[in-house]
Amino acid sequence: MLVSRYGYPSQFGDIDELGGRITELLLSGDYITGKPVAAFERNLADYLGAGHATGVNSGTDALILALLTLDVGAGDEVVTVANTFHATVLAIARVGARPVLVDSTDTDQMMDLDRLEAAITPRTKAIIAVHMFGEVLDMNDVVEVARKHGLAVVEDCAQAIGARRDGRAAGTFGDIGCFSFHPSKNLAAAGDAGAVVTSDPVLAERLRQLRNLGQREQNHHDALGLNSRMSSFQALVLDHKLPSLDEWNRRRRAVAARYTEALESLPVRVLDVSEDHVGHMYQVIVPERDRTLAELRDRGVDAVLRYPVPIARQPAFAGFGFVPEDYPNADFLAHNALCLPMRPDLTPTEIDTVTTALAAVVGRTEEN
Ligand SMILES: Cc1ncc(COP(=O)(O)O)c(C=O)c1O
Repeated sequence: MLVSRYGYPSQFGDIDELGGRITELLLSGDYITGKPVAAFERNLADYLGAGHATGVNSGTDALILALLTLDVGAGDEVVTVANTFHATVLAIARVGARPVLVDSTDTDQMMDLDRLEAAITPRTKAIIAVHMFGEVLDMNDVVEVARKHGLAVVEDCAQAIGARRDGRAAGTFGDIGCFSFHPSKNLAAAGDAGAVVTSDPVLAERLRQLRNLGQREQNHHDALGLNSRMSSFQALVLDHKLPSLDEWNRRRRAVAARYTEALESLPVRVLDVSEDHVGHMYQVIVPERDRTLAELRDRGVDAVLRYPVPIARQPAFAGFGFVPEDYPNADFLAHNALCLPMRPDLTPTEIDTVTTALAAVVGRTEEN
């Protein structure tokens, strides 16, 4: 590919320093939730301004553990957005609860907060607010509705680490914030990893117990938990990268701004973003999406689809009886958007290559 989606070599700075720490780890045997995990948890909590961070195995586990910690289970409903990655809704289903979807807006494609309250029933126990594509949902509204109805708030921040609104980090508005460090994310582990943050010490204690097979202390299994402990290796990688995250997010915003300016004259539509976004993905609504995608890829642009089958159409969720037409904005996005390459180290030349290719494919050049 002329313009690739990921660029890992530029993410490591002094890789020898990291290599030295990995060597020490290998010799120490402190592999699982060891000292490197404790250090990363402290640094992540400080970075986000959260009281406690708990390292886990993945963003998916982070969501499942958050719901288990809040005692969400059979007979409960959890409200979330129709435009999200599979894992948000999977987590709800996995703890035995019923997912209830709210359509996204047609502008920023996050939860349409005007429809949130109508989705709440006497069985609703929690809301999962999702910060999609690196944007921060307006959490004041979510928290207000939740407090009014006595609901817990979980934030799915898998795509928005480091995004802030009114000086507060995504993940610190609700009761529990969930993060993914999948290699595609703004802060990428070298494998699967995730974290859960909360400022409530009681929830933090319970999270730590549940990620570790429900053990309060070794051999005392008081609750049904998961084996979802963070690997010390991933903690070393993440701690090495964390100091660069704000700068990478700033560069992602700059890349997004350059794309948006270049696409202004084309028959495409970009999603609304605020100045707080961290440019996790750059989605564009294009004519003849599948043909456009194929032609972009033929021209060496590593464009992809995220996510072409919306939640309401996924066979795994058929049992919940979602009617796709009830979520027209999420459905439209799934069928008409594609995702342009987005990385902090994308050069102006690469951005121009992408936008010139898109201009050629959608039938207009910059000259006309
Ligand atoms: C919105 C959202 N939620 C949850 C997840 C799950 O994270 P993971 O892949 O680390 O399990 C992801 C990422 O893949 C995501 O984008």
